[in-house]
Amino acid sequence: MPTHEMMQAQVCRPPLAEFIVTKEYKRFAEFCDACRRERYIGLCYGAAGAGKTLSARHYARWDLLEHRLPRNRPYLPLPPEIAGCRTLLYTPEVLNTPRQIKQEIPEMQLMLNRFVEEVTHQRGEPVSFGLPPNRLELLIVDEADRLKLSTLEQLRDLYDRNQLGLVLIGMPGLEKRLSRYPQFYSRVGFLHTFRLLSPTEMQFVLQQHWQELGLAFKPDDFTDAEAISAIIRITGGNFRLLNRLLKQIARILQVNGLTFMTAEVVEAARECLVIGTR
Ligand SMILES: Nc1ncnc2c1ncn2[C@@H]1O[C@H](COP(=O)(O)OP(=O)(O)OP(=O)(O)O)[C@@H](O)[C@H]1O
Ligand SMILES: [Mg+2]
Repeated sequence: MPTHEMMQAQVCRPPLAEFIVTKEYKRFAEFCDACRRERYIGLCYGAAGAGKTLSARHYARWDLLEHRLPRNRPYLPLPPEIAGCRTLLYTPEVLNTPRQIKQEIPEMQLMLNRFVEEVTHQRGEPVSFGLPPNRLELLIVDEADRLKLSTLEQLRDLYDRNQLGLVLIGMPGLEKRLSRYPQFYSRVGFLHTFRLLSPTEMQFVLQQHWQELGLAFKPDDFTDAEAISAIIRITGGNFRLLNRLLKQIARILQVNGLTFMTAEVVEAARECLVIGTR
């Protein structure tokens, strides 16, 4: 039986990664807002490691909801911010079936409705009798490349029955694959390409990382400028690659007791990365 302390620790755990609100995230959020407002289906595709999943988690405020949704988890106190949650993030299993979609999504929806109702009640606002009203406005399905025709059909049915916005996230090519299913594709209202970070934005992101490494960020300084352009060249604006490279850089700086960044440090870090480098 979990203790109260254990439950509190679970509630208070820090987010998996510090989220940076990038221009690409803002574009993604706008796209989700539009799908939610118009109750359309939207397709979002972008390269592996571009930041699609993390953006979807941030938009849905998934850190608040994720560990509260499974049915058999012990009751966890609900933070008041849950009152504003209107989005669910669903990641189908690799071997997904229509039955799973049919069971799991309505179950999550019911729990979301209950949570919002309970928080509303705690705030002293009037609550409805009987089943709580529907609060789900947008369903985001990550790893949509895993969906087969039968599971897509189940999603379409769910979309048709509920007044929902639906966003499918996947790799480039998702839109071509789905265009082979006319009934599903005819409901698609928006397409969105999730882009890699631009060099200018990389500078902004790097500034934050420089601070985390305890270094002074001086892009006008030749040594820093050289290191920055090496990082931009190596990672090509890919968030995942950038994080992996920065972890190696931090290790090299620490092992060598260095207090400033150079292009040589970046090159040495790149050599430690086995895969994914260009
Ligand atoms: N906005 C962000 N702020 C901070 N870090 C980020 C951000 N976006 C992405 N990352 C970092 O990049 C990594 C990869 O991001 P994410 O898993 O969202 O990519 P993805 O596009 O979903 O990739 P895949 O197609 O392989 O699923 C994250 O684990 C995180 O470390
Ligand atoms: Mg992902």
